[in-house]
Amino acid sequence: MEEARAELMARIDELLDGAWSLAALAAAVNEPRLSGEHEALLAACGFAENGDGGHLRHDYREVLAAQSDPSAFGRRIAEMLRRAADAAEGRTVPDRIDDAAFLSDGRSSGAHMRVFLKVLADRVPGFADLLDRGAPRFLDVGAGVGAVSAAVLQRAPGARAVGLDVDPRALRLAKGYLRDQGVDQRAEIRLQDVAELVETSSYDLAWLPLPALSSGATEAALPRLRAALHPGGYLLAATALPADTEGTGEDLHTAVLRWRLRREGVTSWGPEMLRDRLREHGFEDVRSVGSPSGTVELLVARTPAHTAPID
Ligand SMILES: C[S@@+](CC[C@H](N)C(=O)[O-])C[C@H]1O[C@@H](n2cnc3c(N)ncnc32)[C@H](O)[C@@H]1O
Repeated sequence: MEEARAELMARIDELLDGAWSLAALAAAVNEPRLSGEHEALLAACGFAENGDGGHLRHDYREVLAAQSDPSAFGRRIAEMLRRAADAAEGRTVPDRIDDAAFLSDGRSSGAHMRVFLKVLADRVPGFADLLDRGAPRFLDVGAGVGAVSAAVLQRAPGARAVGLDVDPRALRLAKGYLRDQGVDQRAEIRLQDVAELVETSSYDLAWLPLPALSSGATEAALPRLRAALHPGGYLLAATALPADTEGTGEDLHTAVLRWRLRREGVTSWGPEMLRDRLREHGFEDVRSVGSPSGTVELLVARTPAHTAPID
């Protein structure tokens, strides 16, 4: 009993030190000069070099300085710590995200989409042609500030985009974001739940980010997206979960992710389940292009050349 108590306390201390180290990292981003204690803590976990004059490590500073909004980094870590605290007390996830954080998350999803488009153009036959020479209509599910739409419109000069979002704030922010990106004339953002999409044969390309949607919304979206796409249209679907580890046991990161997704009430399908669901709904040529931007796993699927109407 005494041994278990000591072991439990030691493990808790170790994990709490990790949480405090993250807090120190987040706090360092906005500190022009670190105190000796702050620097020593960051040095102990490899984020700073002792005696470097009270700064984060030089190469990490460069990475942060290259971001469009470096202070968003600290805010994101702080939000993660608050969410962990909510989970510890059994609270549901409140919507604390402010306009700046919403924009910053949007920008980062736009950057991921730029990477996806490059990989798809390299690997999927006909995709580069569609972007370069076609006039594709793009459907952006969970459009947010419109950054994913902007990435597609900037890559494909002949494209037009329709974004769907259930949050009126997204519409307000998307207006300004799309204008700033110079693509507002080719984009329309609608206040609409994807579960209520009724268009048929209207799009060449659709984006379905599972981590943004409840599983009910994702289930409802699949037949509607199949119908909304032209025959032979592409669906790009992303899941935050990695492929099954085939009985080798799940790593800590994946276990944390699963619990977070479940608490947030969003779709927690891994790539295998997503692939099965896409096939069940009549999508063809379903394939994974892995995790090109190092975050979500991306699956690409096509509607059959002759699409049947939905029930
Ligand atoms: C992570 S944000 C999207 C980020 C986005 N790519 C950007 O550029 O800002 C996810 C968005 O999905 C929206 N959403 C959630 N459920 C939805 C649904 N059923 N239909 C449409 N949009 C939905 C949310 O309101 C939220 O704005």
